[in-house]
Amino acid sequence: MNRPIYLDHHATTPVDPRVVAAMAPWWTDDFGNPSSATHAYGWRAEAAVEEARERLAEAIGAADPREIVFTSGTTESDNLAIAGVLRAARGRRDHVVTCAIEHPAVLDTCRALEAEGFATTELPVAANGRVDPESVRDAIGERTALVSIGAANSEIGTLQPLAEIAAVCRESGVLFHSDAAQAVGKVPLDVRECGIDLLSFCAHKLYGPKGVGALYVRRGRPRVRIEPLLHGGGHERGLRPGTLPVPLCVGFAEAVSLCLDDLESEAARLRGLRQRLWDGLRERIPGVERNGDPDLRLPGSLNVSFPGVSSDALLPAVPGLALSTGSACASAGGEPSHVLRALGLSPERVRGAVRFGIGRGNDEAQIDAAVAQLAEAVAAQGGKSSPGLSRARGG
Ligand SMILES: Cc1ncc(COP(=O)(O)O)c(C=O)c1O
Repeated sequence: MNRPIYLDHHATTPVDPRVVAAMAPWWTDDFGNPSSATHAYGWRAEAAVEEARERLAEAIGAADPREIVFTSGTTESDNLAIAGVLRAARGRRDHVVTCAIEHPAVLDTCRALEAEGFATTELPVAANGRVDPESVRDAIGERTALVSIGAANSEIGTLQPLAEIAAVCRESGVLFHSDAAQAVGKVPLDVRECGIDLLSFCAHKLYGPKGVGALYVRRGRPRVRIEPLLHGGGHERGLRPGTLPVPLCVGFAEAVSLCLDDLESEAARLRGLRQRLWDGLRERIPGVERNGDPDLRLPGSLNVSFPGVSSDALLPAVPGLALSTGSACASAGGEPSHVLRALGLSPERVRGAVRFGIGRGNDEAQIDAAVAQLAEAVAAQGGKSSPGLSRARGG
């Protein structure tokens, strides 16, 4: 099959064959339950999980492997962090501060908590998608339990000033959570250097398997108290009960390690491809605009608006490319991107926006092919003429 060129690495990534190899023995030969304390099958599985935990802790600069809680993915980690902290603070504090461009895993969790009587402040962002740390300071009140600001946005790739926001939180005596699904393994991130209390991330965004994630929960003082979402056998120190998926934990750790091995060189390569893509699009498609910050962004991320076309009509016209208009979950809902709207972009610009997620499998030839296919499709849809004319044509 002649498959489309995959340019949607923010949605998910292929599992690296080295990760598949690392996982292999843990499905069939070493299939033990890590909680089985009475025989060698259990001991071996437990040792594998603990080694994976150590490698993940090291990857994000955590002081202690016990600070890593395995989950099913970032969505669950976000829910556990936000609902867990707020519910544990009930009666003393009942307010969470987040921002308008967060992933639905954060925003919808905050909104669901409002039904339980908690309050949310959704901070606006600047036109480049950055949160102003001073706005965080202003939003924090006596009742604030948690600030949750993502490390890197999945649609526009904008990186947030995590250390500055963390410093504001620390000064105000408020916990700081960050959804780092898009950042870990792509850009340097150290929880202790940044002063992060809780960090969500997962394997499938970094060439690891789907179905496993982690929540970093800082130990020590001031204490992070979390009420678990699930109840059961007391695994993960009572924070996340359920038998651990040993192969997925092993694969997660292997995938993160591989990303960190060549983080700098791969980031430089992706930046080069992104520049090539942007240069090609600018040259071939007059009026194309870039969304988000030009520099303070994930290396493989580019979000552009094509003038006078709707991305919903454009994407089916480029079957040779696997692209998206926004986050996989949000675009499934068919709503205009809440992220792009929060940047203050015009409805036309939001309508014509396409997200490119460049990753490990991409090369220059693919980027050039993508530019050619898009230029042809935009021209065919009238996008090269003035936006006004094509808008009228499109109805
Ligand atoms: C920033 C961010 N948070 C959360 C998620 C959800 O992650 P998962 O699929 O691991 O639940 C994603 C994935 O789209 C994401 O990009």
